[in-house]
Amino acid sequence: MAFPPSFLDDLNARNPIEDVVGQYVALTRRGSNYFGLCPFHNEKTASFSVAPDKGIYYCFGCHKGGGAVNFIMEVENLEYPDAVRFLAKRVGMEVPEDQEYRSAYRKQERLRNLCKEAARYFHEQLNSPAGQPGREYIAKRGLTRATVTKFGIGFAPDGWHGLLDTMTKKGYTKEELLDADLVIKSPKGNYYDKFRNRLMFPIIDIRGSIIGFGGRVMDDSKPKYLNTSETSIFNKRKNLFAMNFAKKSTAGRIILTEGYLDAIALYQYGFDCAVASLGTALTTEQAQLLGKYTGEVVLTYDNDAAGQNATRRAITILERADLKIKILRMQGAKDPDEFLKKFGPDKFRVLLDRSENQAEYQLLSLQNKYDLSFDDQKVAFVKEAASLISTFANAVEREVYGARAANAAGVTADTMKLEIDRAFRRRKAAERKKQERADLDVVGQLQPRERGLHYSNPSSAAAEEMLLAQLLKDPTLLPTVNLLPQQFSSPLLGKVFGLMLQLQERGRAIALGALSGDLTAEEMNHLTAVSRKKDVLVSETAIRDCAGKIRDEYEKSLGTDEAALLARQARLKAKKGYGG
Ligand code: CTP
Ligand code: MN
Repeated sequence: MAFPPSFLDDLNARNPIEDVVGQYVALTRRGSNYFGLCPFHNEKTASFSVAPDKGIYYCFGCHKGGGAVNFIMEVENLEYPDAVRFLAKRVGMEVPEDQEYRSAYRKQERLRNLCKEAARYFHEQLNSPAGQPGREYIAKRGLTRATVTKFGIGFAPDGWHGLLDTMTKKGYTKEELLDADLVIKSPKGNYYDKFRNRLMFPIIDIRGSIIGFGGRVMDDSKPKYLNTSETSIFNKRKNLFAMNFAKKSTAGRIILTEGYLDAIALYQYGFDCAVASLGTALTTEQAQLLGKYTGEVVLTYDNDAAGQNATRRAITILERADLKIKILRMQGAKDPDEFLKKFGPDKFRVLLDRSENQAEYQLLSLQNKYDLSFDDQKVAFVKEAASLISTFANAVEREVYGARAANAAGVTADTMKLEIDRAFRRRKAAERKKQERADLDVVGQLQPRERGLHYSNPSSAAAEEMLLAQLLKDPTLLPTVNLLPQQFSSPLLGKVFGLMLQLQERGRAIALGALSGDLTAEEMNHLTAVSRKKDVLVSETAIRDCAGKIRDEYEKSLGTDEAALLARQARLKAKKGYGG
């Protein structure tokens, strides 16, 4: 998506980074920069910085960074063009819309409308004579009228083209129905409804648009659910079922369930903060989405082996998003839906308030692994428990859970403490060794934090980073660099150098913020980190040294006439003042 460069410059100029960020984060001035608590991860001391002169923000804790547009993309959960629009609106600027974008956007708007109309159709069918089986199933599952309305539940009748006919009559094309994954095209070229004889659950994004459906059978036939596959408006990794409701909850936590029907049942019984993933394991994107709206997630996965595995996986992912995690264990029911029906919401609330933190959960899981009536199993349990407890960061936690484990194994608290201390020392020693190895491994150290941005030639990359860091500090030195982007060993750093040349050529300000549209969030984070390197002293000599190193490494990598040719081109370019 390309907005006119002059528009983007104007946009950045009229949205000073400290103002934009300041609307979300309380900033205090320190020298020429501002500091505050990072809005992207939980922290108690301010490691989030804003540099007005450079027009960027950077968090030393979670390493996110970029310009005003990147900030809005992150904080408002918007795609690039929408973040641009958001900032334009903020300062009352008119957005010159790109033709290509406008048509893509219009297409998606049509699909969103189509899904809305389809949901309306399914809902009407549920209340029509054809909807009898759906209504019976809903009654059997104990869903109230209010719940059905709230979630927009519907019914796809047992036919081949009910939806197809209704939607084409409304002016949608077969292609659009295919694009929304609502109809299927047979090998012979016939179109027919994808969802047939199923109870329909609309999937709604956080802005309230219907983007897809889950359709459940009403008996034991397979597959139990049919879901919308990936479309241009539906991404199951980035959305959560019922998140549109949960985000408004004041409960202070979000309950994560496995099934649509669990989230719905919870809502019906008064828990307005339940969501479900969309038929896949929890993803990093979903964890981040949760983190935008809550600090605490309660896991209520099914009580079977698969559910427990899913819990373990989810813990790892949620931990990385800095979320507080609790695990709710149910006895006598396999999932929240069944539990609520059997025991009622009050009992569930008790479980919710008693839900274990991770430490408890992990210890209990461990305990269940062993039969503690056998001595050899006791010994093994004590060993493993000690090693687990030694990882708890908090001394009180280590003591409390140590005592609990000791109690379970029938050993004294002192014995347990000895074991924990031993495990603690063992781990520290192992960590130290690992760190020493890492220190020696210069190559490993130089690699970017972001996966996917691996440097193939770390020593050239170090010079490339240093060069870019200096140029970002003092762009007036750009014309003194006689290098071409393709001489960089890192495709990313080379691309950035090329973009800087372009900016200069067009007479635009050379700043990170101006590159938002050309770099992914990951790339932007890395580049911001590069530009914030502490030990960067700008000087023409240093720049010349870096450029020399890059050229040398490049020539080493080719070692042929080609290198010489490129070097000559670069010199010519510098003389002509191309890009200068
Ligand atoms: N799922 C799916 N496809 C299937 C089975 C399950 O996409 N064939 C997804 C659905 O998102 C479903 C979730 O996995 O909601 C959990 O599955 P399950 O527990 O079987 O479904 P519930 O919605 O809980 O329905 P029920 O209470 O009837 O078991
Ligand atoms: Mn279930």
